[in-house]
Amino acid sequence: MKELGWWRLLGLCVIVALFLFVMFGLPLPATAPQRPLLAGAEVPPAVQSVLERSCQDCHSYNTTWPWYARIAPLRWYVTRDVEKARRALNLAEWETYSPAEKHRLLTRMADVSRLHQMPPPAYIFGHREVIEYHADRVALEEWAKQEAGRLAGGDGSTP
Ligand code: HEC
Repeated sequence: MKELGWWRLLGLCVIVALFLFVMFGLPLPATAPQRPLLAGAEVPPAVQSVLERSCQDCHSYNTTWPWYARIAPLRWYVTRDVEKARRALNLAEWETYSPAEKHRLLTRMADVSRLHQMPPPAYIFGHREVIEYHADRVALEEWAKQEAGRLAGGDGSTP
């Protein structure tokens, strides 16, 4: 009977350790801050700073994980969101997109800026520095349209 008690205690410890590991111990997806954003595009400094402040956390490898990203179940939400965002538009992989894909993404960037769709409201809530983004929204939209036009050879058509 006594023997069984020890085994139970050990089993409980293993379960607790496993639980803590899943909660706090798993590594977060990799970051690579040295990768430049929008390599090959003509980006004015004002637009560059908007992208760095408001977009690169999700749309590049230069992700600063918030403290709560270490804690499940928030971790699952945050990491999945960033993975989805990187897949949709990765500013650090810009040179790998075809001209047509770049054109589409630039047009989408102008759209999401105009329509206040990005950054997502939950992100703005947690990042007070992004509030300023609303003032820079127009600059981002104008630039994205202009860059899309430049790619298309000036006539605005899809390359
Ligand atoms: C908190 C993370 C987060 C931030 C910050 C963020 N985005 Fe996004 N973005 C996403 C996610 C997630 C998606 C993919 C949505 C989907 O697939 O449903 C997305 C999609 C997009 C798309 C659509 C791409 C396509 O294929 O049509 C564009 C464009 C975009 N974001 C631009 C921006 C810009 C510009 C900023 C900064 C001003 C920004 N995002 C900031 C998470 C983010």
